Amino acid sequence: MTVIKMGIVGAGTWGETHAFIYNDHPGAEVAAICDMNVERAKALADKFNIPGHHVFADHKEMLRSADIDAVAIVTPDFAHTRIAVDCANAGKHFIIEKPLTTSREEADEIVEAVERNNVRMMVDLHSRWSPLVAIPKKSIVDGDIGKPYSAYYRLNDIKWVATDLLPWAAKSSILWFLGYHSVDVLRWLFDDEVEHVYSVSREGVLQGEGVDTVDIYQTILEFKNGGIATMENGWITPNSNPNVNDMKLNITGTKGMFNIDPTHSQMMERFTETKADRPDLLVRHFIHGKPKGFAYESIRHFIDHLISGEPFYVSMEDAYNTTMVILAIMESAKTRTPVNVVY
Ligand SMILES: NC(=O)c1ccc[n+]([C@@H]2O[C@H](COP(=O)([O-])OP(=O)(O)OC[C@H]3O[C@@H](n4cnc5c(N)ncnc54)[C@H](O)[C@@H]3O)[C@@H](O)[C@H]2O)c1
Repeated sequence: MTVIKMGIVGAGTWGETHAFIYNDHPGAEVAAICDMNVERAKALADKFNIPGHHVFADHKEMLRSADIDAVAIVTPDFAHTRIAVDCANAGKHFIIEKPLTTSREEADEIVEAVERNNVRMMVDLHSRWSPLVAIPKKSIVDGDIGKPYSAYYRLNDIKWVATDLLPWAAKSSILWFLGYHSVDVLRWLFDDEVEHVYSVSREGVLQGEGVDTVDIYQTILEFKNGGIATMENGWITPNSNPNVNDMKLNITGTKGMFNIDPTHSQMMERFTETKADRPDLLVRHFIHGKPKGFAYESIRHFIDHLISGEPFYVSMEDAYNTTMVILAIMESAKTRTPVNVVY
């Protein structure tokens, strides 16, 4: 059986997630780990019994000397481009954590390098593997709710993500971190591209806690074929919210509707002597010691389709166009005017 030898760049929270999946997948293995903080790379390598000579502090060195077939780019949002371009130039396929990158110029640079070197790439837009999104998508394709007409999508995080989890939150944005998923989901459900955006944002709460980034965006999207959507992305949901994410999604079609409320539906509640919470049943968890959940399925898909040669369910165009929509939303919020998305 083909086994894809993976190099992982970025040994932080999500780099460890990638390592778990490759380690669990019969068609993959973790062959190298790289982090500019080499102690972190070593610590992750130790967890997976990877020898020291497969640990790197510099991705270029890893590309030069490690025996790898493909790379997982799991560095902070603003640090994807150089690694992606270098992977393409080294002839390595790659999966890149969302977002593709954070500027038009850098997105163009990645697309050019991928096409010139004829490598395969996928951006990890894992919401497409969530039953909360994939079931409505299938239903829409089957004609159950008519033509998607209007949507409301809230996808927020608790404050802790910006203040504690991500040391680089001030160098990114809730739009790159979660809004990127929102735009991809809406594009996919509407099967259409966004033409205009109008966004209003507020800041101050996170700045008051020492993190210089926007608190929340309220955005209206108009699709080319007439669909409209309202999108909320914030990083200031109270830490006592039962889940890290706060999600609500309504999609109304010409003949029906989906109403989705995973965060406050109380499907499972856990009470101990000291706390009450609602365990995550969808995104990522372990059943009989095996990683399960939609955030893992997309990473498995990268390996499965790299081996089979079938196209990935998220194309480079999906990631590029999503990036362009986010850039337009940022411009709209800054200029307080509606903005046309330029592709
Ligand atoms: N944390 C999550 O829940 C989550 C979920 C999905 C996707 N992601 C995405 O995954 C990516 C990584 O996020 P994270 O939470 O793991 O961040 P993190 O800060 O935990 O880890 C990032 C690691 O990358 C390393 N790094 C930075 N620049 C580097 C470079 N040029 N070369 C080598 N190593 C470098 C850092 O030293 C750090 O160890 C981001 O794009 C993020 O949006 C994160």
